[in-house]
Amino acid sequence: MNQPVRVAITGAAGQIGYQLCFRIAAGDMLGAHQPVILQLLEIQPAMDMLKGVAMELQDAAFPLLHDVIATDEPDRAFAGADYALLVGAKPRGPGMERADLLAENGKIFGPQGRSLNRFASRDVKVLVVGNPANTNALIAQAAAPDLNPRNFTAMTRLDHNRAIAQLADKTEYHSTSISRMVIWGNHSATQYPDISHCEVAGQPATSLVEREWFKDEFIPKVQQRGAEIIKARGASSAASAASAAIDHIRSWAYDTPDNDWVSMAVPADGSYGIDPGVIFAFPCVCSGGDYEIVQGLDIDNFSRQKISETESELRSERDAVSPLL
Ligand code: NAD
Ligand code: LMR
Repeated sequence: MNQPVRVAITGAAGQIGYQLCFRIAAGDMLGAHQPVILQLLEIQPAMDMLKGVAMELQDAAFPLLHDVIATDEPDRAFAGADYALLVGAKPRGPGMERADLLAENGKIFGPQGRSLNRFASRDVKVLVVGNPANTNALIAQAAAPDLNPRNFTAMTRLDHNRAIAQLADKTEYHSTSISRMVIWGNHSATQYPDISHCEVAGQPATSLVEREWFKDEFIPKVQQRGAEIIKARGASSAASAASAAIDHIRSWAYDTPDNDWVSMAVPADGSYGIDPGVIFAFPCVCSGGDYEIVQGLDIDNFSRQKISETESELRSERDAVSPLL
């Protein structure tokens, strides 16, 4: 058995947080040989509920769970954190875009970035889930100048998983037959789910589906899936979001499979013409606890246009929060 690692979860009493706590304590994120200490952060009004979550965690007697800290103090929640899942933020309601949350939720991520900067492990891996996730990650990163900026990431794994599921459904193959899916850009309605490089049971996906289906059905379906869930459930996605967060960290910590990659929103570094200054989803391979953006993929004119659109939106979001950067 390894030494326990510290996993901070913000918004831990919320819909996604409630799922995350139990799945991480059960070993779904870091495996059956990695004990964990959960460091759960909530705001004061939700502390009773968070205490209830901590009691349930205790009652589950998880073999891998070494301790639970339930607090409304960010500095305690992030102390020594090896992983920080920044979920705590308001979800959108029907008719809203995720960017509508920027003014309210953006204020959360500067103070949390400052606290991470002072108290977290120097190697902390940060995943921002709270929307608008890419720009919130940028705000947290800017507030943490002493941490590795590469370690601030945002979640587009839910979109990646949704895209795989839609293609699996269309081609009547199981999702495990699908590799090399890409989500480019923002976790928003401008994201570009791209099957140009995708393989389905070893065949190019583009040879199995019509171009019209890709452009007119698949892309809007994946872009709008969050809104579709909100309409159906009356609340935003939670279990699938928690599952994707677990997938994101597990890939980052424990490698991606050979000949495949995952979509992670990471600091742009000039790859594919996206200049630094935004947190942008790219295809990434992970190995040894680090990630690299996959290089050298051919980008056709249609894809270039879609990538530019989502980049423009991220640059506008960045401009809107410039006082926080
Ligand atoms: P929720 O309202 O059920 O839970 C959010 C929790 O965060 C609440 O318990 C609230 O008290 C807490 N919180 C608010 N401010 C906080 C702060 N400053 N510090 C700590 N905790 C705080 O919402 P949810 O459904 O769990 O969603 C959380 C966020 O995740 C939303 O912004 C939602 O839009 C986003 N989300 C992102 C994705 C993605 O793919 N990136 C997917 C689903 C949801
Ligand atoms: C999602 O994609 O399900 C989340 O970002 C929630 C939302 O607002 O769509």
